[in-house]
Amino acid sequence: MMVVFTPCLCLWLGAWVSTASGLDFRYHNTVEVEQYLKAVNRNYSSLTHLHSIGKSVEGRDLWVLTLGKYPTEHRVGIPEFKYVGNMHGNEVVGRVVLLHLIELLTQGYHSDPLVTRILNSTRVHILPSMNPDGFEASTRDCMYSEGRFNKHRVDLNRNFPDAFERDEEEQREAEVRAVMDWLSSEPFVLSANLHGGAVVASYPYDNSNGGGELQRGSSVSPDNDVFVHLAKTYSFSHTLMHKENNCYESKDFKDGITNGFYWYPLSGGMQDYNYVWGQCLEITLELSCCKYPPESDLPGLWAANKPALLAYMQQVHLGVKGQVLDWAGAPVENALVEVEGRRNLCPFRTDRNGEYYRLLLPGNYTVKVTVPGQEPMTKTLSVPYGPDGFSALTHDFILRRRSSDGVPDATQPTESCTAKVWNPAGSHSAALLARRLMPLLLLTLCRLLL
Ligand SMILES: *[C@@H]1O[C@H](CO)[C@@H](O)[C@H](O)[C@H]1NC(C)=O
Ligand SMILES: *[C@@H]1O[C@H](CO)[C@@H](O)[C@H](O)[C@H]1NC(C)=O
Ligand SMILES: *[C@@H]1O[C@H](CO)[C@@H](O)[C@H](O)[C@H]1NC(C)=O
Ligand SMILES: [Zn+2]
Repeated sequence: MMVVFTPCLCLWLGAWVSTASGLDFRYHNTVEVEQYLKAVNRNYSSLTHLHSIGKSVEGRDLWVLTLGKYPTEHRVGIPEFKYVGNMHGNEVVGRVVLLHLIELLTQGYHSDPLVTRILNSTRVHILPSMNPDGFEASTRDCMYSEGRFNKHRVDLNRNFPDAFERDEEEQREAEVRAVMDWLSSEPFVLSANLHGGAVVASYPYDNSNGGGELQRGSSVSPDNDVFVHLAKTYSFSHTLMHKENNCYESKDFKDGITNGFYWYPLSGGMQDYNYVWGQCLEITLELSCCKYPPESDLPGLWAANKPALLAYMQQVHLGVKGQVLDWAGAPVENALVEVEGRRNLCPFRTDRNGEYYRLLLPGNYTVKVTVPGQEPMTKTLSVPYGPDGFSALTHDFILRRRSSDGVPDATQPTESCTAKVWNPAGSHSAALLARRLMPLLLLTLCRLLL
């Protein structure tokens, strides 16, 4: 009997494997990844949008696949989420799992209820490789760092503007500039940056200048409670990250999470930049002890990360979102939206649609909206747990007057950002910076004279 049944079983299994997993578990080079993304985009043209956000030093495109019910453009109320892989070219597991995530999201839309709800409520951006030049230069080695850097031998995760250090003159690499422009082109809310060489979820800050943020060896941000929750969401949804000492680390990674600075301080990191200047909460996920593991490990690594990648995306629905509208119903850009008790280095502001998104754990919060020339509006909101219903609490603020009444320049911020260098518009930064800093300078001068 066994002899009769075995070939049938094999045939059946073979057929199942070839239809259910078109993407094989191996390392695809830059050309193959590009071909794969183009094929996905052709096959799922109404669910996906493929575009390059720039080129690497050696001229390779930095391809981003955007997925969602409305993949080509932002819609009011739909939060923007992103995953970035392979920033260090020799840390390759993130790149692999992101391709498998793309396959899961495209094949699962309409058939898998969780995937369908995620893509109906969120616009998801996936950059499988931020450092294709580094990937192509890498050798298949667990710890050796060949390929970590870009073609100019620069560590991309040290090349962003840093909130805690003066580095305004520093040269930005092409890959970093592309990500900075991308960040200012979409109102991103939540992100993760995928690395290897440890198994842990690390959260901001990565740096400190010894101010109030420095607490018992950690650099603690005003949204620390949210970051800890986000990191734990990943580590506990992952099959083993929440267990400690996965890779014989010398540091204590209780629950599989760590404050970035507590682990080791670094400046110019991407997660701090996203959070401080991009209003986008980003964490760093270290997915494997071995940075470039054998291909036979890949199915297991995908299985371990798959539920965590999905659960983390769902967290984009934490907290509260909405629009600031003027008396006539027009969206108000650049309004400050502050949550009492959270002094962000750069206060969160509404985007060009007058929208804001604030990730918050369930609880009661007082939100203050400030527009130049008007009395600030405050509202105490009772915030439920949004991810279960795939939506943050929606609350719009309607101003009492037209935003332009009595204000010469409605987009001029009322308060200067205490963190340095950033200009969302991308140009004429000197003039804008001078305008922002002038009141501060005058104030300092007055104090000196007194
Ligand atoms: C795209 O569709 C073709 C034809 O059905 C199929 O052979 C191919 O595997 C699909 N590729 C992807 C990446 O979905
Ligand atoms: C998702 O959106 C599609 C298209 O609008 C709709 O047909 C479907 O019912 C929605 N599904 C869920 C689970 O929200
Ligand atoms: C929030 O406020 C409501 C009353 O408005 C109260 O019933 C509830 O217990 C408060 N929740 C928390 C977490 O403090
Ligand atoms: Zn890394």
